[in-house]
Amino acid sequence: MRVFVTGGTGHSGPYIISELVGAGHEVTALARSDKSAAAVSALGAKVHRGSLEDLDGLKAAATNSDGVIHVAHRQDLLPSGGIDAVAAAERQIMLAYGEALAGTGKPLVVSGSIGSPAWEGLGRAATEDDPTLPGGDLYARTLRVRNIVETTVIGLAERGVRSSIVRIPPIMHSTTDHAGFLPLLIALAKEKGFIGYPGDGANVWPAVHSRDLAAVFRLALEKGPAGKNWHAIGDEGIPFREIAKAIGDRLGLPAVSIPADVLMLPGYFGFLANLVTLDLPASNLVTRQSLGWEPAQPGLLSDLDNGHYFPAG
Ligand SMILES: NC(=O)c1ccc[n+]([C@@H]2O[C@H](COP(=O)([O-])OP(=O)(O)OC[C@H]3O[C@@H](n4cnc5c(N)ncnc54)[C@H](OP(=O)(O)O)[C@@H]3O)[C@@H](O)[C@H]2O)c1
Repeated sequence: MRVFVTGGTGHSGPYIISELVGAGHEVTALARSDKSAAAVSALGAKVHRGSLEDLDGLKAAATNSDGVIHVAHRQDLLPSGGIDAVAAAERQIMLAYGEALAGTGKPLVVSGSIGSPAWEGLGRAATEDDPTLPGGDLYARTLRVRNIVETTVIGLAERGVRSSIVRIPPIMHSTTDHAGFLPLLIALAKEKGFIGYPGDGANVWPAVHSRDLAAVFRLALEKGPAGKNWHAIGDEGIPFREIAKAIGDRLGLPAVSIPADVLMLPGYFGFLANLVTLDLPASNLVTRQSLGWEPAQPGLLSDLDNGHYFPAG
């Protein structure tokens, strides 16, 4: 299949390109700089020079492909326009793909997020069929972008696009994770001299290895039906306390509970306070059963134990 991929120079993108090339697909990757063009070429992709701002270019690239995987995102708009500007821009991108792919039955696979305020009251692990409804606080507002993008993408199924969403957990881990949640937690622990966890730390977080994530994108592209959400989840829910303890053990620092009443005060977690308290049990059952996918890479705690997050010096 000729596949157009965006975000090929980020964290997840190189794994997705390598997964596709390894499976025999011909990949054309979006690149907005010489550096990005060189990076995607080195992975075996052809280059489509352009940016997310160029909707006509994205449409042309989608038209000239047999399918699209989109994981680039417009976070650059956040400082100037806030979350609503990001949502509006990303929605326009999805609609542009829709125009290019309507009536073709070609696949469009787009990144989404595991986690929705609406899931906290479910009393069970969230499934692929649970919608990511937005709520009111900062994290929830961030999810509003995801919700708008997800709704738009899933809606394209009615226009003859084989569209789907791959929901990604808050922790995506790999040897090339330099800007994700784990590096943030590790840097914070080093700075403070201990690793904090919220309350009793029993709230759970799902996680995925980037290579396993890439396989979900490939399978959704190759055979996923239209209008579905997929859960790229390796670990379905690890207690936050265990993640903190694994990091603390590696750094030789104690894992310490931060009581709920001081969590939101300026201090340990700062802007992460709204995030770290989330309890996000989520299931991957439908994804495994429907796509025939099984996570094959190390789980989060094993990957932390591998040591690559803790280079010497
Ligand atoms: N745990 C997680 O990380 C997580 C969880 C849930 C959802 N997600 C979502 O999953 C997706 C992929 O995440 P990621 O961590 O792999 O992304 P990332 O590392 O932040 O990479 C972003 C990519 O987008 C490209 N990009 C940004 N603005 C662009 C523009 N204006 N034109 C062209 N390309 C542009 C970047 O290209 P350059 O190299 O040119 O900058 C880069 O390839 C994102 O939508 C993210 O929100 C991630």
